[in-house]
Amino acid sequence: MNRYYIGLASSCHDPAIAIVDSDGQIVFAEALERYLQNKRAWGAQPDDLYQIVQLVESYCDPNAEFVVANSWSSTNWQAYLKLFSTLRLRDTKSLSRSFSGVYSKEIFDWLAFIHLVGLLKAGRNFAYQMRSVFNNDNIIFKRYQHHLTHAANGCYSSPFTNAACIVVDGYGEKGSISSYSYKNGMIKTVQDCISPASLGFFYAKVTDICGFDSDKGEEWKVMGLAPYGKVDPKLYEQMRSLLEVKGCCLKQPSRHNYEKLLSSIINRALPRKASYWEAVDIACTGQKVFVDVMEELLNNFYKLNISDNLVLSGGCALNSSLNGMILEKTPFKAVYIPSAPADDGNAVGAGLLAYYEDHPHKFSQKTWQSPYLGSTISKKSLDNMLRFSQIKNLRHLPGTVHLEAARLLSEGKLIGWVQGRAEFGPRALGNRSILADPRSPNMKNIINERVKFREEYRPLAPSILHEFGDKYFENYQESPYMERTLRWRPEVKEQVPAVVHANDTGRLQTVKQEWNEKFYSLINAFYEITGVPIILNTSLNVMGKPIIHSLEDALSVFYTVGLDALIIEDYILEK
Ligand SMILES: [Fe+2]
Repeated sequence: MNRYYIGLASSCHDPAIAIVDSDGQIVFAEALERYLQNKRAWGAQPDDLYQIVQLVESYCDPNAEFVVANSWSSTNWQAYLKLFSTLRLRDTKSLSRSFSGVYSKEIFDWLAFIHLVGLLKAGRNFAYQMRSVFNNDNIIFKRYQHHLTHAANGCYSSPFTNAACIVVDGYGEKGSISSYSYKNGMIKTVQDCISPASLGFFYAKVTDICGFDSDKGEEWKVMGLAPYGKVDPKLYEQMRSLLEVKGCCLKQPSRHNYEKLLSSIINRALPRKASYWEAVDIACTGQKVFVDVMEELLNNFYKLNISDNLVLSGGCALNSSLNGMILEKTPFKAVYIPSAPADDGNAVGAGLLAYYEDHPHKFSQKTWQSPYLGSTISKKSLDNMLRFSQIKNLRHLPGTVHLEAARLLSEGKLIGWVQGRAEFGPRALGNRSILADPRSPNMKNIINERVKFREEYRPLAPSILHEFGDKYFENYQESPYMERTLRWRPEVKEQVPAVVHANDTGRLQTVKQEWNEKFYSLINAFYEITGVPIILNTSLNVMGKPIIHSLEDALSVFYTVGLDALIIEDYILEK
């Protein structure tokens, strides 16, 4: 009988669901925020047994066996109490903010704790409920350690047969860092650091001190703002003292010193309404501390002599500025970061761990893990739109829509581009994207003012044909998931001013024909018109909202922002 593996990312933020089939292929993966259109879906369960019914019908045999695999290991309430106490001690406001709207201040603490336990135990309930929904007794439940699911998501999707893997995030069951060795499909724990010190929480704190909101995942803003500032030596010293590197772990100062240091840093906090230009030095200093600590950790990790290949996973692997520096700052020869290294990716990690537990010898080396694992646009909605919308400027251009898109882009038009399956992870990689011409010096401002309604300092990213990577970037590395930032070559950066950041870098997406044929064809057509093999690519959403999920979401964005055209599959709508 076939067996499917349903992975659940069940943290109290970024819940997600993934399905691995009986051949070990990931056939579906998506964060719940897309479906709910609620950024990060704080406090929600990975699924409410609504989605799974449709997913099982689409991707599985409902009469098969199922393993429901959860991304947290413990159901012991004392372990959760310890975790909860630690989170509160860290002065992270994430928990309190996420529950304060639900509970009154007085009873918030304990009810929030119970809520947290409920979320972490949701996987087991999900498995039980699945049995009755599908009238199927062949559904079993397994749970895996949080950091191990991060590691599995990275290692099993990497192109490596052997690697040293390190997970760095806010917090797992024991601490914020775990390290692993990976060889021929086997992941072995090297060390689980047991310490409350956390780079993930540190960066969240820097985000909040800058006047941004870490609950909304605004760490991006710190990274984007950092190149405009300079390092404040006193603040650097205070921040750096919070995070002492010991081998491959972090140590925290004594509680008294920690609280003293933290309060002196918090004293620098800017109010939410402050201009972000006031935060540039805090952002620059925080980013510098983050990079320096990671550099020390990774160099110590390399000395363990596990492998020249590095897999980096956990929420801290979203720091694309750091990711682009790893090969120059450490002896590692290659680095891989999965498309969804944060907690949403653990749905994939848990599903794959369950699969390989059943098939320990079935490992085969991957050449490429597609990130296009999410939902498609509903055909029924598309048919209804064609029948009833009465949109005048609507054309159907099968086989040539990319040529028309390239022409519009070369004329400076802003395009919404919706194709195939949605990307798994935070980046739009050419299937749920807003695209534009990178040659225009004003394009960044035009997009920020007309479409994204966001701050002018935030960079926009380039998608580049792989063949031209070396010509445009110094020390070019493939960046399939827009996961790393590299430096533009000085002689070409003036060709694409809209995607060159203040420090002459770009967070690139490498595009290969075999990875995304239609997107490749579009960029290639743009290259044939303009001589530039690069287009500006940003996610199809508006500020504060997740990337669009449905046709209705796409139309809503199209008609309420300054996009000129929306291309859905082979249909093109123009204003
Ligand atoms: Fe995590």
